[in-house]
Amino acid sequence: MLGAPGAGKGTQARLLSEMLGLPQISSGDIFRENLKNGTPLGLLAQQYMDRGALVPDDVTINMVMERLTRPDCGRGAILDGFPRTLAQADSLDRALLDQGSRIGRVPLLEVSDEAVVERLAGRRVCRNCQAMYHVVFSPPAVEGCCDKCGGELYQRSDDEPDTVRNRLFVYYKQTAPLVGYYFAHGVLVRIDGDRPVEEVQADLQVAVRAEA
Ligand code: AP5
Ligand code: ZN
Repeated sequence: MLGAPGAGKGTQARLLSEMLGLPQISSGDIFRENLKNGTPLGLLAQQYMDRGALVPDDVTINMVMERLTRPDCGRGAILDGFPRTLAQADSLDRALLDQGSRIGRVPLLEVSDEAVVERLAGRRVCRNCQAMYHVVFSPPAVEGCCDKCGGELYQRSDDEPDTVRNRLFVYYKQTAPLVGYYFAHGVLVRIDGDRPVEEVQADLQVAVRAEA
């Protein structure tokens, strides 16, 4: 899943994961989980995430590659937030090639910068099950409380406006070049992400089914 911060990658990847029965592998979620558990990886990642900068490639690549070797990825996986640099994309391609595997599709969720800022300002996440809400677009039934598990909803510290601006800058500088990379590989599918979640998901499912 490719797209700017707040484009809806996590929301859509989770739905796709449920539909296809494949694991959703989010580099951001793995970093946040490590931070919650106070691991050295989490503490290292925090220094970058708090500024909206990318965690160094070597750390990120090793972490995701290790995750992809676990048994639940045997039939494939949905990558959310990785790769994010050309070096990450290149490492992933080479690792998959070694395993006789490949990237099937790269959906690019296209959303305006204004929508991104609005979405991230209103995003709330469940501390317990990571379910995603938005105070306006998809509010929970009870304010501050997860519909699915009753967990506490919180606001990510990197969703603060100054950090969001830097994340967008970093996206255009370091991640946007992947659009050309995957277009050249014939796997890019552009999806208008500025629509209701269900409509975006319907297009995504068509795009993924077309891959075979
Ligand atoms: P990460 O966690 O990956 O954050 P991100 O890419 O900035 O993306 P987000 O999670 O903010 O947004 P999203 O596109 O998933 O949108 P969402 O579905 O939540 O990365 C965080 C940090 O970790 C990075 O800054 C970096 O430091 C580090 N990191 C991670 N991966 C890395 C890598 N590969 N290399 C190096 N460093 C890495 O939706 C947003 C909001 O909008 C929600 O409230 C949702 O409810 C709402 N929403 C979603 N879809 C819609 C819709 N269609 N209409 C209305 N509202 C919607
Ligand atoms: Zn929950």
